[in-house]
Amino acid sequence: MDNTILGIDVGGTNTKGAIVDLTTGTRVTEKIKIPTPVGATPEGVTQVAKEILSTLGYSGDRIGLGFPSIIRNGVCCSNSNISHKWIGMNLNDHFTNAFGIPTHCLNDADAAGVAESHYGNAHNVMGTVILLTIGTGIGSALFYDGKLVPNTEFGRLHFEHGILERYASNKVRKDLNLNMDEWASRLNEVLLYIEFIFSPNLIVLGGGISKQLESYQHILKTDTKIIPADFRNNAGIVGAAKFASQYRK
Ligand code: BGC
Repeated sequence: MDNTILGIDVGGTNTKGAIVDLTTGTRVTEKIKIPTPVGATPEGVTQVAKEILSTLGYSGDRIGLGFPSIIRNGVCCSNSNISHKWIGMNLNDHFTNAFGIPTHCLNDADAAGVAESHYGNAHNVMGTVILLTIGTGIGSALFYDGKLVPNTEFGRLHFEHGILERYASNKVRKDLNLNMDEWASRLNEVLLYIEFIFSPNLIVLGGGISKQLESYQHILKTDTKIIPADFRNNAGIVGAAKFASQYRK
């Protein structure tokens, strides 16, 4: 039986997609990556998502899509790095209509967490596990005994330096031209704060910058073990596809 589903990961900077083999959690096609149009409006994002679908020639019976917002019962409820026009839209209905294929949406960081907890480094880790995706913003996924608690938005928490993601995202590193040590000491403060609140057993770091964890791990002073996401920049795609697989269509 064909056990593949298209996963799409809408990000503040790029939108990516690939067809994923759900038995192994690996890509069976190349990854298509297109810049998310400035403003990340419904029109712009929908157009690039459709381009991914047509480039891959996907004709499966469902699609999983990770989206950078709170999603409650399919409805977009926040807009930190995307257009305000998304607020109140039912994303499942919107993308299902746009693609002509049933589409199931979840928060992008939750999608990355699903990949790590099913196929990756967080597999079978009991207790509290937190995944943070460090990109344009900071996304979060919270698991307890392998069960996802969706829409946690830890990157939007406030602490002494303001909003966590506005202090230590990868975009902030680039915008302020911080060197790796300077940025990593900001990340360390964020991690210590999250550790204090949740006392997790494991923190998994995702997003492009997690590839370089070895170069800044010495700056991170948490008691909690910190590891890079196994799927790095593919986690959102793989997790979105896995998420869609639980639906009949
Ligand atoms: C959004 C989250 C998202 C994260 C990573 C944040 O700005 O509020 O929903 O998961 O960025 O994309």
